[in-house]
Amino acid sequence: MAETITIIDDRTGKKVTVPIRDGVFASTALRELDPDLRMYDPAFLSTAACASSVTYIDGEKGILRYRGYPIEQLAEKSTYLEVAYLLLNGELPNAEQLKKWTYDVTHHTMIHENMRKRFVDGFHYDAHPMGMFISAIAALGTFYPESKEIFTPGALDKQVLRLIAKVPTIAAMCYRFSMGLQFVSPNNSMSYSENFLNMMFRLGDDHTVDPRLTKAMDLLFILHADHEQNCGTTAMRVVASSHADPFSAMSAASSALYGPLHGGANEAAINMLHEIGSIDNVESFIKSVKAGNGRLQGFGHRVYKNYDPRAAIIKKAAHDVFDVTGKNPMLDIALKLEEVALSDDYFISRKLYPNVDFYSGLIYQALGFPIDMFTVLFAIPRTVGWLSHYNELLKDDAQKISRPRQWYTGVDQRDYVAINKRQ
Ligand code: CMC
Repeated sequence: MAETITIIDDRTGKKVTVPIRDGVFASTALRELDPDLRMYDPAFLSTAACASSVTYIDGEKGILRYRGYPIEQLAEKSTYLEVAYLLLNGELPNAEQLKKWTYDVTHHTMIHENMRKRFVDGFHYDAHPMGMFISAIAALGTFYPESKEIFTPGALDKQVLRLIAKVPTIAAMCYRFSMGLQFVSPNNSMSYSENFLNMMFRLGDDHTVDPRLTKAMDLLFILHADHEQNCGTTAMRVVASSHADPFSAMSAASSALYGPLHGGANEAAINMLHEIGSIDNVESFIKSVKAGNGRLQGFGHRVYKNYDPRAAIIKKAAHDVFDVTGKNPMLDIALKLEEVALSDDYFISRKLYPNVDFYSGLIYQALGFPIDMFTVLFAIPRTVGWLSHYNELLKDDAQKISRPRQWYTGVDQRDYVAINKRQ
């Protein structure tokens, strides 16, 4: 069978035949039919905006792979920093490479004193940590004027390292500011995830972080590290396409992540469970969702039309965390919601399954994070995904500045009307 597609313009009878590779054809071939012909694809439902070798998803089968490695294997056997190296470089590090990478990240965790004293201290006492995070990332770039030299060999690698190393420090700083707690400096003797939990929650000299909770944090970081062309990554790529520095692009990507339809869904999901309040209210809640009153937060996905593999791993890990912290009382409501939804035709027919955000909030809450920190916890590990795509885009000769066309549906030309003649 020919691996081509033939498109005929019935207005002119002209036709063009284009090869199909891996289920994709170059729609720019339409220009041969008519240079003014546009494809209308709001929200990119059928558009591949780039070629990428970072992450593979098969939404029908519930498959997620980073650089070819199944997420289940990485979740079980790897660490976040090793996965970060894999995403950035395409291959798992050998022992020496991992040692150097870990050392380098560990030794770039500090941030300039002015960031805390002058920048973060300027926020209102109840500022949302995600709003602080987004602005802090953009502000951080101003401390490194060379961050604009994105094509100078080695210069971009330094910014990538800085961002991955410093995001946990910034996140913890935003949290401690909002709690009125003294800032805790990074500890170079700790792992990435242990150091983050320590900077977040340390209250006295005898504070220790339970290794089981460090492991859970690291697992959550692995699961959130990349997810191909989602809304945040698309924002990252669009801004990067103008050759803006990685700090500015990441601030835009974080802003996209902030929304409740994207990374903000974990916050929305926990708020929803609180609102439901009891197992007895689950059936009526589902009924009201079906009647169009809001959505079941943490359910559904643009790509997954099967169980989100990350949700399956998180659901299992939740029990390991609850063994240490005690069960989150919201778990029973979540389990019941899932059970009712997955046996309801509304959700079955629309292929709506739990996504990564359905159970992650329960673990975050059990770990002691306030709800408004949840999206920040998503942004920390997604940093490496965003930067992997930033790097990939800059090296892709097929890319140009992002500039979609539009379908103009406004009024045609008309003459200016003086104010005293307007209705
Ligand atoms: N609850 C109830 N109905 C839903 C839901 C939901 N969570 N999600 C989709 N639907 C319905 C929707 O109303 C529509 O029904 P109909 O065909 O009758 O109009 C149908 O399912 C298709 O929905 P859609 O909005 O066209 O699907 P989409 O691919 O544009 O949206 C989504 C994907 C994730 C934005 C959406 O499922 C949603 O809003 N989910 C809740 C928010 C959420 O959990 N977001 C986290 C996504 S995973 C983490 C991440 O990558 O950010």
